[in-house]
Amino acid sequence: MPFSKGVDNRFELHEAYLNAQLVRLLKTIGFDRHYVRAEGPYLFDEAGDKYLDCLSGYGVFTMGRNHPKIKKALVEALAADLPSMVQMDCSLLAGQLAEKLVSYLPSDLNKVFFCNSGTEAVEAVIKFARAATGRPKIIYCDHAFHGLTCGALSLNGDEIFRDGFGPFLGGCEAVSFNNLEALERALQGKDAACFVVEPIQGKGVNLPDENYFSEVRRLCDRYGTLLCMDEVQTGLGRTGKFLAGDHWGVEPDLVTLAKALSGGFIPVGAVVAKKWIFAKVFDRMDKAVVHGSTFGKNSLAMTAGLAALEVMKEENLIAQSAENGQKIKEGLERRIGKYECVREVRGLGMMLGIEFGPPKSFTLKAGWKLLEKANKGLFCQMITIPLFKKHRILCQVAGHNSYVIKLLPALNLSQNDIAWILDSFEETVAAAHHFPGAIWELGTSLASHAVSARKELRAHDG
Ligand SMILES: Cc1ncc(COP(=O)(O)O)c(C=O)c1O
Repeated sequence: MPFSKGVDNRFELHEAYLNAQLVRLLKTIGFDRHYVRAEGPYLFDEAGDKYLDCLSGYGVFTMGRNHPKIKKALVEALAADLPSMVQMDCSLLAGQLAEKLVSYLPSDLNKVFFCNSGTEAVEAVIKFARAATGRPKIIYCDHAFHGLTCGALSLNGDEIFRDGFGPFLGGCEAVSFNNLEALERALQGKDAACFVVEPIQGKGVNLPDENYFSEVRRLCDRYGTLLCMDEVQTGLGRTGKFLAGDHWGVEPDLVTLAKALSGGFIPVGAVVAKKWIFAKVFDRMDKAVVHGSTFGKNSLAMTAGLAALEVMKEENLIAQSAENGQKIKEGLERRIGKYECVREVRGLGMMLGIEFGPPKSFTLKAGWKLLEKANKGLFCQMITIPLFKKHRILCQVAGHNSYVIKLLPALNLSQNDIAWILDSFEETVAAAHHFPGAIWELGTSLASHAVSARKELRAHDG
């Protein structure tokens, strides 16, 4: 067996050989479980406890983990001794997956580039857009997340990810999401190759205004700038449509996909673009491999991709996403919307955000202030930790210093799973509105951890 059944010393190993700060974080918030198995939307730890995974590997497992149909396709592909990555060849599987993918998209989005991750897809977009337009500038949004390699990081709207890693790619300009005037100002110089934008921002689950994307399309056309919708997280049914952009009828010039494309089994990414853009990038025979990646188009990723698209269709996952997401959203609004720290439940399909904000009542205000003083957005951790420890729901805060808790579960949750989420949120949010109480004891301990972490940082800097 390629995996060890010996002593499970995962945290010691990571502390010694990988990222020790991650171990420290998990232990501090009590997320240090020994998971041993996963099935559908569930994780199981060594004690046999079952967790409902609403993080889904950052949105990868739209059809749950270890889907039997994709597993079977992969086992068959392995048994077939396929000639993967011949390189001086055209992979049949890549051709088939590209044909399938474009069948879901507007007819002029008909060329596919395969890579291995979301960030690689964004890197490709930067290069393709520059090559296609001959322009240098890339426009992106505040709070955007497009990946963490240097090009994609140059389009990242969150300082914590950027800090210490500059200088970034020249000619990148940030505008506020939903601000059309700012976008037009950035476009006016006619030097922008591309506007790269998430249809729904992952950090914060920020939704576009109803007319935003139709105006974005009009402005990009007016100033000769390409429009790239980064659908790495929102694509492939996550929001209840194949692409989230479909909610607003937007037709981009380029689309990025990754995460769910292989059902979570094999790293994969893709850029789907208009033919003329490809023709500009790969414009001569001696430039046939001017952009690429060794493992792009590998047989296992392509096999998993084909099987995942089949599962998506057969199991009607997009419709399930829309229906289940609506049920969770309405259920949360009904059951926790009345609490004074709950500002809004928002999102589309199975990409949901619950935003919290300062309370009005005197006693809760004191608690909120204590948390805020220690670390902005700490209130959300005070919810996610009991959700995990007591209710075994795994979810995350939607960004640093954020007041939004994000849910990205599998699209095909059962009615029991939905009830599990609603009951757990109701109990936890209700408890967070009793001050003092057990949850606020946790809050105090989180605050003191945050303060000592800041002191440690100051000592380190000084
Ligand atoms: C919108 C978006 N683009 C790009 C990426 C980067 O993808 P990856 O982590 O596969 O590099 C992410 C990852 O969360 C994302 O949400």
